[in-house]
Amino acid sequence: MSKGRLITFEGPDGAGKTSVIEGLVPLLENLNQTEIVVTREPGGVSIAESIREVILDVRNTAMDPKTELLLYIAARRQHLVEKVLPALEQGQMVLIDRFIDSSVAYQGAGRGLSKKAIQWLNDFATDGVTPDLTLYFDLSPEIGLARIAKNKKREINRLDMEKIEMHQQVRNGYLELAKEFPDRIVTVDATKSLDEVVAQAFEIIKENV
Ligand code: TYD
Repeated sequence: MSKGRLITFEGPDGAGKTSVIEGLVPLLENLNQTEIVVTREPGGVSIAESIREVILDVRNTAMDPKTELLLYIAARRQHLVEKVLPALEQGQMVLIDRFIDSSVAYQGAGRGLSKKAIQWLNDFATDGVTPDLTLYFDLSPEIGLARIAKNKKREINRLDMEKIEMHQQVRNGYLELAKEFPDRIVTVDATKSLDEVVAQAFEIIKENV
């Protein structure tokens, strides 16, 4: 068993995970009196960042859903082995912006691929590594996509360009996951202000990790 703690952040596009993580880091570093590892999927290490470019490239409209799934899974494996596991073995707290649940929500509920197959592939890629805690930031796709459109710093990617129906299915996928794994996944109302969401996320981490 690893000594560190793995916390993952999930939610539809525009839920504000990245800003919440930025707000949480100083609070957690102060609490733990140690540095926190912050990383993201797909990406986080050079090979996985290269895979990310292929997946999210807006020109890659011909990408088959199974190809998309396998690329996310490949990026996950490399990132886990190269960055996440070594940090956990050293006893560090690791925060990942997206992990296994994104594949179930996006490629499963969103693209309609078999949930069972995705769970098997996740397990294959992670050797069964599961987060100690997952924070799911919930909000409607209408609000999420409107936030993305306003945020000029954020580049629009291939997944953002999908129809609103797919984003609704992704949200339904997350809500189902939260019901299925109530001991691991805690839902946070992401429509609140950033300060409120950060404060709530911090309390949840303090209570659960
Ligand atoms: P990103 O710009 O990181 O979006 P966000 O800030 O919302 O996390 O792009 C990642 C995109 O990849 C996002 O639309 C979700 C999608 N994704 C999947 O579809 N499956 C996955 O397994 C992962 C990790 C991400």
